[in-house]
Amino acid sequence: MPLNSDTPIILAIETSCDDTAAAVLYNGKMLANIVATQKIHEQYGGVIPELASRAHQQNIVPVVQAALDKAGKTISELSAIAYTQGPGLIGSLLVGAQFAKGLSLALNIPTIGVNHLHAHIGAHYLNEYPPKFPFLCLLVSGGHTQIVKVNSHLEMEIIGSTIDDAAGEAFDKAAKMIGLPYPGGPLIDQYAMLGNPLAYPFPIAKLAGYDYSFSGLKTSILYFLQKRRTLDVHFIENNRNDICASIRYTIIKTLLQTLERAADDLNIQEIGIAGGVSANSLLRDELTKLGIKKQWKTHIPAFEYCTDNAGMIGILGHYQYLSGDFANINAKPFARGH
Ligand code: KG4
Ligand code: ZN
Repeated sequence: MPLNSDTPIILAIETSCDDTAAAVLYNGKMLANIVATQKIHEQYGGVIPELASRAHQQNIVPVVQAALDKAGKTISELSAIAYTQGPGLIGSLLVGAQFAKGLSLALNIPTIGVNHLHAHIGAHYLNEYPPKFPFLCLLVSGGHTQIVKVNSHLEMEIIGSTIDDAAGEAFDKAAKMIGLPYPGGPLIDQYAMLGNPLAYPFPIAKLAGYDYSFSGLKTSILYFLQKRRTLDVHFIENNRNDICASIRYTIIKTLLQTLERAADDLNIQEIGIAGGVSANSLLRDELTKLGIKKQWKTHIPAFEYCTDNAGMIGILGHYQYLSGDFANINAKPFARGH
């Protein structure tokens, strides 16, 4: 293996779910960040794992080539390859991991196995003014909802998580119930902008500690829609904006009330959000407002680093590289946890 460079050039690969993504970073600075979103899943109302793996297989070479071209780098200049080790869909993860391992063997450079959830949080390190440690990060994606205390670039402590559905899942399942295609989170956000958030009150779950639960909300939306539709078959079409606004309001309020309590208890004023749901406009606005009220320093990632991307894998990979945290060639992808 070549000696570690102080200014590494890292190729990063992300294939944990339905986006095939590659990025190139020079010394922690983003040179290229390319994402190919798989449209094929829209028609099924959710991600079909087998189709996702096949699409990754088709996309990975052109996406990596596009990232290298945009960065103006060739593979011979790379210092290491960072890839998403997990959590995610195993078939999808395997495509990225095997590609990274194969290329690293051919180039005689190390691989870096990156935790996808840590990378969502690590997206903050790409900001011009990153959060100071320790900071609290609300990680809200399609598969996870956690409050994480971030002690250093690589040391993260989960202090609360969902006991059932993730916030993104709650958005997507609610969207499906009102007839919107997958992923419905961004569509609910759009319709909600035109609606009244207090039109239909839904329950806000409050759990002990810093955990979340969204399954009660899902059931309550289902029963509410069933009841209203028996009275008026066009209820959803005629009230879509208000329904979306009420759902969005409930999910965001649920998220922020527990985050606020955690920040108070831990006496932390550096607060961030991360993951796909951090693209939600109400969450961004309400966090900013709450931050002003509480005198927090709030951190909101740029849109391109909220939903799945390889840039975030690359920046966490960069810090792992500097700390000498390389993957063994036998490192196995993992589907869950961490
Ligand atoms: O982090 P991500 O891209 O993938 C996972 O690691 O899960 O998150 C995807 C999730 C989906 O559930 C999607 O509906 C949600 O993020 N999402 C949003 C918005 N944009 C993406 N949810 C609400 N409002 C949005 N604007
Ligand atoms: Zn993600």
